[in-house]
Amino acid sequence: MNVPHHIAIVMDGNGRWATRRFLPRVAGHKQGVEALRRCVTACADRGVGVLTVFAFSSENWNRPVEEVSGLMDLMVVALGREVPKLSKDGVRLHFVGERGGLSEKIVAGLVQAEAATAHNTRLVLNVCFNYGGRWDIARAAAQLVARGEPLTEINLDRAMALAHVPDPDLFIRTGGEQRLSNFLLWQGAYSELFFTDRLWPEFDEAALDEAIAAYQQRERRFGQTSSQLAGGAGRDRQAA
Ligand code: FPP
Repeated sequence: MNVPHHIAIVMDGNGRWATRRFLPRVAGHKQGVEALRRCVTACADRGVGVLTVFAFSSENWNRPVEEVSGLMDLMVVALGREVPKLSKDGVRLHFVGERGGLSEKIVAGLVQAEAATAHNTRLVLNVCFNYGGRWDIARAAAQLVARGEPLTEINLDRAMALAHVPDPDLFIRTGGEQRLSNFLLWQGAYSELFFTDRLWPEFDEAALDEAIAAYQQRERRFGQTSSQLAGGAGRDRQAA
């Protein structure tokens, strides 16, 4: 079957998962790390080549101080605990986002995790941390301007933070909201969108299979018509 090569996920609903259990929001994020671990394994088992997740957005700094510091601490703990296991499973880690605003300890952890997993080839895991789609586009454009290169689509594409992987085929958002929230604005141009009410900590193998099955029902036309795709180019005049 046609398994999406690259899946991107907005892991939404951790806070609600915790609040419903009378737990602090950070407990939901901790459970979110478990869900992510499960999802990485399930993706690798299904032949997905790239998984890109939104772990901390440029806008998440506006959350209560204790939640922001909880997420930062969680990153440090997750790096220490998960990287050896991920590496053993053949996962190559990339951290995507602005490192300027992060602590030295976290940046050192990210650099070390990328180096420790650089030889792995089973699955690429891009963790977007202090990332925003607009930041990515603006940064790529600024790089081109600084180098005196023209702002063409190809040049921008090459300067973007996910230039090392093809664009996402399937974009999943959990937690019931149906918006992009500044995630992969450039790269998601032709991604198939899948929204589920399920909260991220409850996103399991069955939920992943449901999203992949929905993807497999989609007709990806990339601006062409159905009949063009079926080999009947010329019958339809209007691109969809
Ligand atoms: C959105 O849920 C989730 C986040 C802002 C953080 C996602 C992070 C993880 C899943 C853990 C992995 C991250 C690290 C640091 C290793 P929400 O808090 O907006 O949930 P809500 O909509 O129910 O409030």
